[in-house]
Amino acid sequence: MTQLWNGDKRRIEMQEVGTRDGLQSEAQFVATDDKIALVNALSQCGLSRIEVTAFVSPLAIPALKDAEIVMNEITRQPGVIYSALVPNLMGAQRAIAARADELNMVMSAAETHNLCNLRMTQAQSFNAVAAVAAIAKDAGVALNLSLSCCFGCPMDGEVSAATVLDWCRRFMETPGVTGISLCDTTGMAYPTQVHALTRAFLSQWPASALTLHFHNTRGMGLANILAAIDAGAYRFDASFGGIGGCPYAPGASGNVCTEEVVHALELMGYDSGVDLKALLAVAHRLPGLIGHEVPSQLVKAGQRLDLHPLPAGFDDIKARALCR
Ligand code: COA
Ligand code: ZN
Repeated sequence: MTQLWNGDKRRIEMQEVGTRDGLQSEAQFVATDDKIALVNALSQCGLSRIEVTAFVSPLAIPALKDAEIVMNEITRQPGVIYSALVPNLMGAQRAIAARADELNMVMSAAETHNLCNLRMTQAQSFNAVAAVAAIAKDAGVALNLSLSCCFGCPMDGEVSAATVLDWCRRFMETPGVTGISLCDTTGMAYPTQVHALTRAFLSQWPASALTLHFHNTRGMGLANILAAIDAGAYRFDASFGGIGGCPYAPGASGNVCTEEVVHALELMGYDSGVDLKALLAVAHRLPGLIGHEVPSQLVKAGQRLDLHPLPAGFDDIKARALCR
């Protein structure tokens, strides 16, 4: 059972999604062995969950066509939950066969994004939820529902809180569904909206059932996390290096960056359980694997108290100043 409070410090759970949401839209294919090594290194960082990969169509997401091998060959760290994204029954069957601890089934709160991303209507996706829930329950595997576009859709525009909460109710009434992620697929969420929707969710269901998933597309990711914490949430998805984005959502860009979120929250007195130094070391590997720099400000700037050397001639500057 997850504890919300750890001594005096408020506990925050970080779920790493970088090897799934992060790598899914990268043009350069990351070799299977490198993916396995990344997951193994992330497993040593104190993260509570790692979304390892996605069991989706290899034509839709070629970057993750090696899902079975990765899921089967990682070294599992006791205490870490290894999840996988699935879009339909076939994905769920594949993920269960590959021994995923948890399925993260995706559908969208907006009909247009659901059609673009999954080639199904929302009604068809919801029918699949019941079928996936049944096999997950039989297999003793947890089932989380990731609802995309909860804070707006890049094609349909506003998505009302009532629409989102209605989908949440339908998921929570489905036997076998253990949790819900409210996803801000293209960084349209803003703090007061996040606060209100989190409060509305928590007035009906417990915080243990809720995850929030933000993208930093418009620079509001960390502010949205703080707003959600203020409203009572404690579990967040994030991506090391700040990479990520749905290839079927126009304008999508990176997730909130795990090391940035951990750095900020630890300074503020929260306990994420994450070893920031170890996580940063993994994030530093990314540019060499994906062929470009990562958005992470912490990879660029280092931690707050990583000090810089004195400028050249500093002793002279100081001596002259002291003589004045
Ligand atoms: N894994 C692997 N293959 C799958 C699959 C899955 N989960 N689901 C379907 N397929 C295969 C089918 O077997 C079929 O193969 P065939 O042509 O060799 O017979 C083919 O894909 C087409 O099947 P169909 O059911 O018509 O799928 P589709 O083409 O309508 O695509 C999805 C539907 C859901 C499989 C696809 O849109 C998808 O994988 N989307 C995920 C997108 C994503 O990951 N976005 C980012 C994360 S939010
Ligand atoms: Zn995402």
